[in-house]
Amino acid sequence: MIKIIDCGSQLTQNIARRIRELGVFTEIVPFHTKPNKVLTKDLEGIIISGGQFSVYDENSPLYSKDILNSDMPILGICYGQQSIAHILGGKVRQAVNREYGETKVSIIKTSPLFKGIPKNFKVWMSHGDVVEEVPKDFKIIAESQNKEIAAMQKANIYSVQFHPEVDHTEYGRKILDNFLTICNAARTWDPTREYNKIIKETKEKIKGKTGVGGISGGVDSTTLSVLLNKIADKNYHPIFIDNGLLRLNELAEVKSILNELNLNVIYVDARKKFLKELKGITNPDEKRKIIGNEFIKIFEEEAKKLDAEYLAQGTLYPDVIESVPVYGSSSKIKRHHNVGGLPEKMNLKIIEPFKNLFKDEVRKIAKQKLGLPKKLIYRHPFPGPGLGVRIIGEITKEKLMTLKKADSIFIEELKKRNIYNNISQAFAILTSTQSVGVMGDEHTYKNIIALRAVTTKDFMTADWYDFDKKDLTAIVNRIINEVDGINRVVYDITQKPPGTIEWE
Ligand code: XMP
Repeated sequence: MIKIIDCGSQLTQNIARRIRELGVFTEIVPFHTKPNKVLTKDLEGIIISGGQFSVYDENSPLYSKDILNSDMPILGICYGQQSIAHILGGKVRQAVNREYGETKVSIIKTSPLFKGIPKNFKVWMSHGDVVEEVPKDFKIIAESQNKEIAAMQKANIYSVQFHPEVDHTEYGRKILDNFLTICNAARTWDPTREYNKIIKETKEKIKGKTGVGGISGGVDSTTLSVLLNKIADKNYHPIFIDNGLLRLNELAEVKSILNELNLNVIYVDARKKFLKELKGITNPDEKRKIIGNEFIKIFEEEAKKLDAEYLAQGTLYPDVIESVPVYGSSSKIKRHHNVGGLPEKMNLKIIEPFKNLFKDEVRKIAKQKLGLPKKLIYRHPFPGPGLGVRIIGEITKEKLMTLKKADSIFIEELKKRNIYNNISQAFAILTSTQSVGVMGDEHTYKNIIALRAVTTKDFMTADWYDFDKKDLTAIVNRIINEVDGINRVVYDITQKPPGTIEWE
C-alpha cells in the first residue's frame, strides 16, 4: 500500500482517488502520525500532499525527518516539495510570480518520474512559495515557464511543485503511474473485491438487529439500502424524507425507481418542519446544520417507533477525510450533513459500510455486484440539503417554486437534447439577486438564475460543460419565457477548484 501524508490540502483525496484508480490501495494519514505508524510492513511508497501553509508558518505541518530518511520511495506534491526541501536543508522562498492555474513546465533532466512524457506539458499549479535552492545531492528535473523549480529528485525521493492529481494537469495520471512503478507497488486493489468483506463485517454488526437509514434515490443511499436489505432480512427500513427542498416531481420519480427494488421504504412528509426551521436563515453552514439536525431528529423518531438499534449512513471516504481537518477548520471545505452533523449523544449505533470507498467505487459495486439499474447508477447526484443550498440567502416557498421550475426546464431540455448523460451534474441556482431587463416595451427588475453543468470523474475536480450555443440559447429562452420572476440567466464557467460544484 501507499500512504499519503496529509498536510492539509483540499486535494489530498484526489491523490488517494488516483492511486486507487491505478490499482493500488492507499490510505491518508495526518502529517503528525508517528514514523513507526507510517513505516509499516505493507508500505510500498509515500506521497506527501500539498497544503495551504508556508514551511515558515508557525504551525506549519512538518512531519518527521525519519520519514524522508526511510529509504521508501517518496513523492512530494506542492507543499510536499517545499517541505522536503526545507526539512533536508534546501531553501524555500515566496514566489515572485504567484503561479495559480494553468502553467507550462519543461523537463530538464530525464527521470523515471517523467518516463513517456513529452519535454513540455501543461500543469495545474496553486502555490505562493517555491523551492529556491534544492537540498544537498538533489537535482532539478523540471522547471516552470517562470523558471522556478517545478520538480526535483534525489535517488528515490521525488517532488513536484504542480498537482499531478488534478485532471487539469496533462500527464498527471502518467506521473503518478510512474511513481507507482518506481515503488514497485502491487496493483491489486479492486473495490468489488471489498464487497465480500463489507458484507461479512456489516452482517456481524447488524445481526438480529433492526435498523434505519436515509434513502434519497441517489446511488450511494440506494446501494446501501439494497445491500442492507439483502443481509438484514427485512429488518432494515430506509427512510425517505420529503424536506420540501426536493426538485419538481422528485418524490414521484424516486418512488418509481425505488418501487422496482422491493425495499421497505418509509416515506415521511416533513416539508413544513424543515421550512419553519429554515425561516430567516441565510448562512450556508447554518442552513446545512439545521437540515442535518432535522434529518437526524426524524431518523431518531422513526427508529424509536421501530425499536431500531442502528442508523446506516452512506458515508464515503471523502466525507470522512473532509470532516477531519488537519488544523481547526481551515481545510474543511463544507459541512456535509451525513458526517459531523450528528449529535454527540445518540442512542443509535452508526453503520457506515462504504466509509472506505469513493463514489465511483460504490457505483462499481452497485453495477457489478448488486445489478442496480443503469438509470439509477448514472443519475446526477443531488445533495442532502437539496435546493436549500441552491437558493442563495433565505429560503422561501416562492423562491423554491421559481427554482424548481427553472431547474426542471433545464434538466428536461438536457434529456430531450441527449446531453444529460454527457454531464456529471447539472442544476439551476436562484441567485436571489435582481437585475434590470426589458421585456416587450417594459423595463423589468427581476431575479437572476444561474445554471451549472459540470463534467467530472470524482466530483473533487470538475470542469464546466461546453454547450453548443443553440442548446444553451434554447434553454435560457425557455426559462425566461416560462418562469415568472426571471429575466436573466447566467452560465457558471468556474472550474473546481477554485470553485465548488454547489454554490453554497
Ligand atoms: P461541492 O459543492 O463540494 O460538491 O463541489 C461536490 C459534490 O457533493 C455534493 N454535495 C453534497 N452532498 N450533502 C450531500 O449529500 C451536502 O451537504 C453536499 N454538498 C455538496 C454536490 O452536489 C456534488 O455532487
